[in-house]
Amino acid sequence: MLRLAHALDGQLRAAMARAFPEAAAQAQAADRPFDPQLAPASKPEFGDFQANGALPLAKPLGQPPRAIATAIAEQLAADPAFLALCLEPQIAGPGFLNLSLRPERLAAEVQARLGDPRLGVPATEDTTPVLLDFSSPNIAKEMHVGHLRSTIIGDALARVLEFRGHPVLRLNHVGDWGTQFGMLITHLKQEAPEALTTADAVDLGDLVAFYRQAKARFDADEAFQATAREEVVKLQGGDPVSLKAWGLLCDQSRREFQAIYDRLDIRLGERGESFYNPYLQAVVDDLRAAGLLVVDDGAGCVFLEGVSGKDGKPLPLIVQKSDGGFNYATTDLAAIRYRFAPPPAGDGAGRVIYVTDAGQASHFAGVFQVARRAGWIPAGARLEHVPFGLVQGDDGKKLKTRSGDTVRLKDLLDEAVERAEADLRRRLKEEERHEDDAFIAHVATTVGLAAVKYADLSTNRITNYQFSFERMLALTGNTAPYLLYAVVRIAGIARKGGDLGGAAGATGAPAGGDLSFSEPQEWALVRELLKFDAVIAEVDEELLPNRLCSYLFELSQVFNRFYDQVPVLRADGPARSSRLALCRLSADTLKLGLGLLGIPTLERM
Ligand code: ARG
Repeated sequence: MLRLAHALDGQLRAAMARAFPEAAAQAQAADRPFDPQLAPASKPEFGDFQANGALPLAKPLGQPPRAIATAIAEQLAADPAFLALCLEPQIAGPGFLNLSLRPERLAAEVQARLGDPRLGVPATEDTTPVLLDFSSPNIAKEMHVGHLRSTIIGDALARVLEFRGHPVLRLNHVGDWGTQFGMLITHLKQEAPEALTTADAVDLGDLVAFYRQAKARFDADEAFQATAREEVVKLQGGDPVSLKAWGLLCDQSRREFQAIYDRLDIRLGERGESFYNPYLQAVVDDLRAAGLLVVDDGAGCVFLEGVSGKDGKPLPLIVQKSDGGFNYATTDLAAIRYRFAPPPAGDGAGRVIYVTDAGQASHFAGVFQVARRAGWIPAGARLEHVPFGLVQGDDGKKLKTRSGDTVRLKDLLDEAVERAEADLRRRLKEEERHEDDAFIAHVATTVGLAAVKYADLSTNRITNYQFSFERMLALTGNTAPYLLYAVVRIAGIARKGGDLGGAAGATGAPAGGDLSFSEPQEWALVRELLKFDAVIAEVDEELLPNRLCSYLFELSQVFNRFYDQVPVLRADGPARSSRLALCRLSADTLKLGLGLLGIPTLERM
């Protein structure tokens, strides 16, 4: 209902200006125009919208707010454009204006959405790229549940922004550079030298174990340590053999990461930390030239404004270590600069978003501040850290396997699918249904992966969340299976002979002419369906996918109430076609909404 809200807002402003011409003109001139404070109604019995703008005017106008609201309401009631949208405004409480849309307007909005693949969501005209930095695991290290969260949240945000029409650059800022490669390459050269001469000679296999071995040797053996340090220098100097070894390690990791991305249907372009290597020195040089760099204890740093340590002194952001090396922050500064720089020297982004755990909040705050002070962020550009909480086990502690190891993502996804399969087989047995293996595999995979994604997306990302297979796979509550089941239910209506719009042809409108609704359950569903566009706009703005989840959950509940209490297939005439139209729009909204969360739906389950 974004379009309607926008129209109403304009009509309210005009009504306020007509009711109090002088004061309105003064307020306008002072750049503080009257604000109708239009918002969705806080309760359904108040109508669709409420406007609270009369209250703050009481003082400047020297009138009781109810009198002000009455004057505005009179102006509205004299505006034919307003009356085409709404019934007579009602005044409530100390001076709220309650606005109810005309039933035929609501029906027309539903009708308009039936033929609209965007379901009323306006496309943005802004063509400046949005850059999303997400997933970003580290080479030769475990891709852990934190990276999984970043991957799932980042992908959902990317899908929503893409759907809004923004060009989105999805970037995987993999940790593929740094001193750890010294020991990894040394270990590789010593343990599997054939890998460097013959293609595919060695399958590096489990890189995490490889990393552990290398680390153990590094910690225990001084000679190894010295070689590893030399190896870092060689790599940074571009030695071809070292680069080859580095490339092999990255390839192996990449294959492992890609297997997870493929399973979850995640598209992501890799641009790792190494990409920014050629730009690091310039970052430090330019910070120096800008007068921001201070050498403290041999290290190059920028002291942060407004951030102090325990001793009350400003905290530094270190950008060059005392040995001359660069770090994570230097790389992120180079990345920010590159991302905002206009092409061809950069990405020309207008908004850059980072999806990482909340533990990195101060890192990003520091990096953002320094980039801003260095003048690398264009006016009007947005730079946002999207933090999320920890994934915990049932015990409230960091998620671990029973033996105390970190959980491997592959195992986690396998288990979700296995449990979904077991649930499904149990249900089929109870219902005495017979399905073939292909059906069972497809449903179990879809439900299992959907459950993992949805559990991650549906909690407010800022809070920690407890990972529980049982909860995420439950058929009731705010879960993926519950939502998928609502879609299946509607598909079932079509199978039972309900025409969900197929026969209506190109316009997509249901057969049977104009829509008409009479039951409160129908109106509740209509109103819920029409909120979709505003929810998408909100996710675009606030980057909180759980808002979309809550909406889809609410919609499923309202749909189920409607379908349980109002006859659809047993109705006839316009009531039947209107109700089928609501079923179809519910299915379309759920499918699109879940699709934007990266969750495909099922026709049967
Ligand atoms: N590789 C980092 C990690 O595993 C995440 C990188 C996030 N992106 C960034 N531009 N710093 O924690």
